[in-house]
Amino acid sequence: MNLTLHINGTDYALDTAPSTTLLAALRGLGFHGVKFGDEGGLSGSDTILLDGKPVNAGSVLAAQAEGHKVATIEALGEHPEQGWKSTDGLHPLQKAFIENGSVQCGYCTPAQILAAKSLLEKNPNPTEAEVREAISGVLCRCTGYVKPVQAVLKAAAEMRGEGTQENKYTGTGDGGTPIDLSTSLPDGETLTQTRTMPKVIVMPDKQQWQTVGKPEIKVDAVKLAQGKPAFAADFEKRGLLHAKVLFSPHAHALIKKIDTSKAKALEGVAAVLTWQDLPRVVYSTAGQSDPLPGPLDAFSLDYKVRFVGDRVAFVAAETVEIAEKALSLIEVEYEILPTILDSRESMTSPTRIHDEPEYVNFADSNPEKNLAAEIRIDIGDVEKGFAEADQIFEAEYEVPKVQQAHIEPHVVVTYWDEDDRLVIRTSTQVPFHVRRMMAPVLGLPVKRIRVIKPRIGGGFGGKQEVLIEDVAAHLTIATKRPVLYEYTREEEFIAARSRHPMRIKMKTGVKKDGTITANSMYALSDTGAYGCHALTVTGNTGHKSMALYVGDGEYRKAPNIRFYADVVYTNTPPAGAYRGYGVPQGYWPLDRHLEKIARAMGFDPIDFRLKNAIRAGEYHPFSVAWNEGREPRPEIIHTVGLEQCVAQARAAIGWDDKYGNEEWRNSGSKVEGQKSGSTSDLRPSTKRKGIGIALAMQGTAIPYLDMGGASIKMNDDGSFNLLVGATDLGTGSDTVLAQMAAEVLGVPIEDMICYSSDTDFTPFDVGAYASSTTYISGTAATKAAQIVAERIKERAARMLSEVNKETGTQVKPEEIRLANRMAIAPDGRSVPLSEVALDALHRNNQEQIMGVASYVSPVSPPPFAAQFAEVTVDTETGQVTVDRLVMAVDSGIIINPVTASGQIEGGMTQALGYAVCEEMRYDEKGVAYERDFDRYHLFRADEMPELETIFVETLEPSHPFGAKAVAEIPLDAVAPAVGNAVLDAIGVNVDDNPVTPEKVWRALRK
Ligand code: FES
Repeated sequence: MNLTLHINGTDYALDTAPSTTLLAALRGLGFHGVKFGDEGGLSGSDTILLDGKPVNAGSVLAAQAEGHKVATIEALGEHPEQGWKSTDGLHPLQKAFIENGSVQCGYCTPAQILAAKSLLEKNPNPTEAEVREAISGVLCRCTGYVKPVQAVLKAAAEMRGEGTQENKYTGTGDGGTPIDLSTSLPDGETLTQTRTMPKVIVMPDKQQWQTVGKPEIKVDAVKLAQGKPAFAADFEKRGLLHAKVLFSPHAHALIKKIDTSKAKALEGVAAVLTWQDLPRVVYSTAGQSDPLPGPLDAFSLDYKVRFVGDRVAFVAAETVEIAEKALSLIEVEYEILPTILDSRESMTSPTRIHDEPEYVNFADSNPEKNLAAEIRIDIGDVEKGFAEADQIFEAEYEVPKVQQAHIEPHVVVTYWDEDDRLVIRTSTQVPFHVRRMMAPVLGLPVKRIRVIKPRIGGGFGGKQEVLIEDVAAHLTIATKRPVLYEYTREEEFIAARSRHPMRIKMKTGVKKDGTITANSMYALSDTGAYGCHALTVTGNTGHKSMALYVGDGEYRKAPNIRFYADVVYTNTPPAGAYRGYGVPQGYWPLDRHLEKIARAMGFDPIDFRLKNAIRAGEYHPFSVAWNEGREPRPEIIHTVGLEQCVAQARAAIGWDDKYGNEEWRNSGSKVEGQKSGSTSDLRPSTKRKGIGIALAMQGTAIPYLDMGGASIKMNDDGSFNLLVGATDLGTGSDTVLAQMAAEVLGVPIEDMICYSSDTDFTPFDVGAYASSTTYISGTAATKAAQIVAERIKERAARMLSEVNKETGTQVKPEEIRLANRMAIAPDGRSVPLSEVALDALHRNNQEQIMGVASYVSPVSPPPFAAQFAEVTVDTETGQVTVDRLVMAVDSGIIINPVTASGQIEGGMTQALGYAVCEEMRYDEKGVAYERDFDRYHLFRADEMPELETIFVETLEPSHPFGAKAVAEIPLDAVAPAVGNAVLDAIGVNVDDNPVTPEKVWRALRK
């Protein structure tokens, strides 16, 4: 049908099918600012304005929009500097989002801005609650909504002509002292209303830097706030085909027969592939370094399916609709096999999930027992420790399977380039692993594959999987045409990866004085149908959590710790990497267990934890015993800011006034009832308040394994290209890498043009995982910058010496200082970097000033955190409302307080879902209950508790600027802190998270 759409003030004529959604029509016309997040419009990333009102473009037909005014983000504003042409610049909302650090991955940003624009047109002076409600239809998995809400309030003020609030943070630059913002809040305003900057407790003798430590604007924020075509799917290519996958409806079955003739005969179908069409290459989808620390147990397509959602066939067609129709025409005859859905039955079941002869074991995997990995770690003498204890505590806990739920689904485009090389443009955390791992699967040498990682709309570990690249690539090989493959939200739930669910047994020995004498954890971990990340995720469950508590006194010198685990196959969707990488699974049982022990033995819960917690100068106990399947190497922990984290967060949340205070606990218990005045109508409230704490430590990269590279070259104007293989998933890593390089080179961050990543052009990097980028890739960028700085100084010294030939004043390179875009001699004379660049490139002894460096760390210095939670529990319904989360974090020196606090706020929000509502469940046939954002609930902007982040800086000696990791630790301790707060409120334990109303209600009535 022929339509005319009025978009951003211009009419567009199009000829399209009646079923075309407005989302598809807009994206087809090149308005890539509107994004696909899910089929039902529940993510809200497809929000546009229709006659000024926010609507989901995916839920409206293009034909329904005819005759209405459509506005997309592209209409709002543009980069203020467009060469000779002057523009109105960016919209105040775009500016505020950019300046406030509200753009992380940026996938939801256009939708949030449009929803806010609609609000401000109706209500120029909204309250925070009104802002939260207005953007509540747009889910954000990255930010925790703190900074987007702030941005809207700030833009509203500016649009009212009130100007904007000064940024109160002074950081450590220019001799400034950070302001304790908690003391400067206007009366009656909450923290989130008045600030986006975290409180930073600065090292007393900290060095002052020009850009490191400053809240620099994210290097990609401007383009993302404009909705520029920055993501994998924002890509146009002539002859593009659309891929679809036929997924198994059975949890365990053999494919006896498969007939694709009808599908192939359908007009518009370019290819249909089954296992019979592809070479049989066994591999693992876990995006990890070589050699892969796990079994090889997967095929692109197989004659056996092992979970509901496993692959059966691939289709490429001219449109998505034709591809879907083709799937329905594929006839498959299955032989149904017995299933294992309960991890407790795996090792004793006669059913074998992996009986293929190509299976390749790793370490102690054993497919005969459905065992993907086995871990047995003994540190010290655990049995002796138990014998020396005054009391032994044993209990069992359970942690659920949960989804990463990045708002941008998995998406990939593949095509042959003019040199017959296969280009894979993919939303991945691990581009170099994709290239290496796909090569044998596709029958291509590594050198004939180029992987391009554009901007990523969130990954959280889900894109550390080489999950769908092979689908599109096989279809491109089959058809010679470009192929786009994008998961639907339902496919994310049934076919992507998730956090490993585990059943965990704890046994802890304690002396009367509170000393832990021995601590033991056993984890039965469910890897689902494939063993991707089985060993390494589950290893971290014990490695990072059990290491925190070593005991006290003599036990501190020789702790007794045991961590055993069996990682078993079941006929459920595979688990994999998810931010935190096994560690949140460890802290739920560990910290809930410690809380119970503290209460049973009458210890103060904070004192008990700190008494037994690891301290600076001590060995990481697991470093002598385990290293992700590799040789262990003993490692001393040099910086531990845990006690100060506890002190800061304890004060911020008001622990001393609330813990053990019955009056406070009942402060939610105002007498409620009818307003008739009759006392007989009155009834006590059922609400009880509680407060809880949990501590955490994580890691910073994998020692002797994670490697990152960086290259820097100088341009004619004294600016620099920084190329890194590291993958910014929205975390801001490009920004902090640019900050560190800019610091060394003495230039503002806008002079660093950062690009990540392309396997043809950027240096190798293992990718974004294990909280490694700031630490590993940051050190590489710093080293590369130091090489460039040396070249600049040599040339500048010569230039300055030549100028002063007559006076005979010579300048040595090592005396030169780089700052403010100048090379400065000790006597104050200087030469601009742009002159140095012109001299190098055009005038004298020409050379390209550049530096390449890489870094692999011998250590993994842990960050530490104190997490506090305040909750209200309704004893009648079991409903737990988390009112406040305060987290104090020792992540070493904070390179950028805005991006770092954004990581903490977003991480706490993901962990909040793990604490109270997120869970993936299956029926007796292995069919998923949760298949969309209706049943699987993500916190919305209007449901959030108050979040507060405090950084307690330490100077980590192994990093050039003293940094440690920040991205994963906020996932670790929210759930146990909430569980402990629920116990504090109502006196009962829920031992399996999430703490749902039903579980609380049942626990109360036990
Ligand atoms: S910034 Fe909102 S989903 Fe990533």
